[in-house]
Order: sequence, then C-alpha cells, then structure tokens
Amino acid sequence: MHHSIELKDVYVRLGHVSVLEGVDIEAKPYEFISVVGANGAGKTTLLKVVNGTLRPFKGQVSVLGHDLFQFKNLDFLRRDIGLVPQKSNSNRFPILVEEAVLIGRYGKIGFMQRPKEVDWDKAYEAMKIAGISQFSKKLVHELSGGERQKVALARALAQEPSILLLDEPTTYLDSKSQSEIMETIHTIHHQRGLTTLLVSHDSRLVEQYSDKIYLLKEGKGYLIK
Ligand SMILES: Nc1ncnc2c1ncn2[C@@H]1O[C@H](COP(=O)(O)OP(=O)(O)OP(=O)(O)O)[C@@H](O)[C@H]1O
Ligand SMILES: [Mg+2]
Repeated sequence: MHHSIELKDVYVRLGHVSVLEGVDIEAKPYEFISVVGANGAGKTTLLKVVNGTLRPFKGQVSVLGHDLFQFKNLDFLRRDIGLVPQKSNSNRFPILVEEAVLIGRYGKIGFMQRPKEVDWDKAYEAMKIAGISQFSKKLVHELSGGERQKVALARALAQEPSILLLDEPTTYLDSKSQSEIMETIHTIHHQRGLTTLLVSHDSRLVEQYSDKIYLLKEGKGYLIK
C-alpha cells in the first residue's frame, strides 16, 4: 500500500534561514501523526511542503503515492488534502460562517458551478461536528479566535479529504475546548478513515491521540513516540 505521506531527507531554506535540514517523516494510511516543536522550529513550513505550496531544494516528498514535484499542477492532490491553517485569513472581507464552510466544497462543486443541496448538507454536517451550528448565520469576523478555528476545521471536514493537515488547531482555545476539539478531531480521524498530520507546540496535548510523534528540532525530525 502507498504511504500516505512520506518525506525523505527534506531540506528547506527560507531567505537566509535553513529551516529543515534532512527531515524524514512518514505517515502510513489511517495513521494519526503529530509533529511537535518550539516556535520557529519549522512546523508550519513542514505542512506547506506536504501541501505542495513550498518546494524543498533537496529531498523527496510523496503524498498518496504521488511524487509531489513531478507535477506542475497539484490541484488534483489538494482536493484530497484538508488543511486547517494556523491563522485563517477569512476575516478580510465579510462572509457568513456557513459560506466560509461551504468553500470547503469548491473543489467538488467545480469552477463557476452553483453549490447543490448535497454541498450545503455537507457544510451543515461539518458545522455540527465542529460545534458551530449556532454561528452559521454570523459573520466570521464577529467570531472569537477559537470559534474561527472551528470554522476552519469545519471547512476542512466539508471538503471530505483523505488527508487532514492541522496547524496548531488548539491555539486560541481554552483548556476545556482544547480537549474537546482534540477529541472531535480524533473521532473524525477514525470515523472517516483519514490520515492525519497535526503540528503543535504542545506535546502533552497530542500524546494520547497520536500513533506516532516526531519532535522537530534544529531542522531535524526525531521520532519520540
Ligand atoms: N517567508 C519566510 N522568509 C524567511 N524566513 C521565514 C519565512 N517563513 C518562516 N521563516 C522562518 O522559518 C522558521 C520556521 O518557521 P515556521 O513558521 O515553520 O515555524 P513554526 O514551527 O510553525 O513556528 P510557530 O510555532 O511559531 O508557528 C522561523 O525561524 C521563521 O522565522
Ligand atoms: Mg507555525
């Protein structure tokens, strides 16, 4: 079976900073992998590599059995990768929560097509799972940071990807909500048969949910669980 995510000896330089220096990370299908590390360790950078938005100058990246850098256009792959970013930029213009979540369906709806009933159903189902149904008619920029993070999660769920990438999904949440959202993510991971890669600075929070944990430090990845 193809490994869902595989990074081999990956090197990334940003400006004058050498961020990743020979990282090896592997997530098999249906595994829940966490990558922990301090601020600036390169966690977000790593997710950009997996997502194909950042190209390493050395190393191999394979996602769902495809060697990422053989392709000019990665849209076909991104449709299958749900990303919950560290900071969402959906607050730049006024948009309803339900519309923000529906954006997750665009890859399936197709260019210039109108959403169908099934797309709205999927969006509403995702909002329910993320616990934001009561905010559906609110504007995203009226929500708190933690609530917006749940919108980003709902959008990724509405997309129905097979790989879920999460960048610090609990940053803005209080401790009760942190555990709740981790439970939710873990449940979805199993129910939908996802391969999940979560990055976080908080190794204690991810410990019990992760099949494997890597520590990212000084440009290298160390398997610590
Ligand atoms: N566009 C850029 N140009 C130059 N350096 C960058 C750029 N983006 C990030 N960096 C640097 O790369 C390093 C890794 O950044 P990255 O955002 O991947 O860290 P992180 O582990 O996600 O940190 P945090 O926990 O704060 O989110 C940092 O030292 C950062 O300053
Ligand atoms: Mg980051």
